[in-house]
Amino acid sequence: MRHSLLCMLGFFCFKATLTADRTTTLAEASHRVSVILHPSWPQIYRGETVILRCQIQEAGGAQWTYEWKTTNRKSLIPCEYMNFSATEAHSGEYRCRGKREMKFTPWSEVIKLIVSPASPPQPVLSVSPSWLNPGASVTLSCEGLEHQPAGWRFYWYKAVPKLISSTYSLELLPGSTNGTEQNSNTVHGPTLTAGFVCRAGRGEPEFYTYYSEPKFVWSADPRPAASLSVNPDRVQHFRSESVTLSCEGNSAEWRVMRFIETGKLSYCSIWGTGSTCTIDPHRHHSGVYWCESQSGETSNAINITVQDDDSAPLLLSPVHPVTEGDPVTLSCRDKEQQLLSNVFFYHNDKLLRHGSRGELNISAVSKSDEGFYKCQHSGKDSPRSWMSVRAVSGPVGSLRLVLLIVGPVSGIILIILLLSLWRCIRLFLTERRSQSSTTSHEANRSGSQVYNSLLQGWSQN
Ligand SMILES: *[C@@H]1O[C@H](CO)[C@@H](O)[C@H](O)[C@H]1NC(C)=O
Ligand SMILES: *[C@@H]1O[C@H](CO)[C@@H](O)[C@H](O)[C@H]1NC(C)=O
Repeated sequence: MRHSLLCMLGFFCFKATLTADRTTTLAEASHRVSVILHPSWPQIYRGETVILRCQIQEAGGAQWTYEWKTTNRKSLIPCEYMNFSATEAHSGEYRCRGKREMKFTPWSEVIKLIVSPASPPQPVLSVSPSWLNPGASVTLSCEGLEHQPAGWRFYWYKAVPKLISSTYSLELLPGSTNGTEQNSNTVHGPTLTAGFVCRAGRGEPEFYTYYSEPKFVWSADPRPAASLSVNPDRVQHFRSESVTLSCEGNSAEWRVMRFIETGKLSYCSIWGTGSTCTIDPHRHHSGVYWCESQSGETSNAINITVQDDDSAPLLLSPVHPVTEGDPVTLSCRDKEQQLLSNVFFYHNDKLLRHGSRGELNISAVSKSDEGFYKCQHSGKDSPRSWMSVRAVSGPVGSLRLVLLIVGPVSGIILIILLLSLWRCIRLFLTERRSQSSTTSHEANRSGSQVYNSLLQGWSQN
């Protein structure tokens, strides 16, 4: 970039001169002139640095001056480069030409510059899945910017709870210091509830988009270091009830966060040692709730669902994931927590059972029992709630696995052993038979005693 020829913001110009080379004397009309736009993204945002250059092909080192004509100014602008931080006022059509010894080249083709008023853009982050399966990876995707090639590099952050305010500070994820070319990123095996943010940047100096709104992945499994519980201990609550959420764990100060159904993030309690949040009736929100500690720990998250209609039933289902093989009771109750009768239970919208008692007992849950449940009583539906079923893990799980493998294998080995034993016995018997027949010949000569006793032995078998 020849900075001596730079046209600055507001179209102030430096004299555009080059060392003369009088040996070239081409006819000016034969020179092709073009406008070079840098960067050449299809869409430019307010605040991005833009350089327009008037380029003469085979300029031949002669002493040229330049001028620009643009739809957004009356006067001509004399310079080779225009360099500005884009505003909407810069939108328009640009053309330029060169001049040498009082003769002009033809005008260049028109270039259209459109500066987007939305500035800077805000990408939208999506996370998948939203609920963590232990050990699985999470895919982050930063969307909403125009497609490549638009020069964006993507930056990925973890949202870390901030002490003073209700917001988060951001930490770049490892490996994202220089940004990634792809607008998606995989985070391997997060095990805890965590918030993520993305943004993109491009150009020189780098022009950044806004940060996306934070998105969360939630862990459903409570752990001793940080757990959230709800009282009353159920997913569904009537709007008129008072519901208390409590954080427990190693940290002194917690706050309860929630992500309500409308997609809004807010806090249910500010930092506190008591670390409970009582949702005041009538300001209930269905959504996901979890705790954050001042040292950055997060708890499991739980779903809370609000039943607006006091005369409709409530489904009581486990708040935390249940383990395969455990007994589970789902029940359908009224506002006074009385078991209802004549109840229909639905699993994933399929009628499961019509029972006289408002209770559904599963003696040993399996993975196939996972899903949405609701109950129905005299034509009214409870909200539906998700029941998570965890595979057996840990020592018990591996023991089961071992038994599962060892069982059939040892069975097969046993069968093989029995078969070979059976063959052995048969072999032994035939041998003994042929032996005994030779013996019998001899016995015929030497006496029948042995033969008889042997015969008795055989027939007994
Ligand atoms: C909360 O509900 C969602 C579905 O809406 C489900 O995927 C998730 O597993 C539930 N979380 C818990 C802790 O049950
Ligand atoms: C279901 O199990 C509970 C205990 O978990 C028990 O009190 C209840 O009687 C059982 N109901 C039925 C219908 O078997």
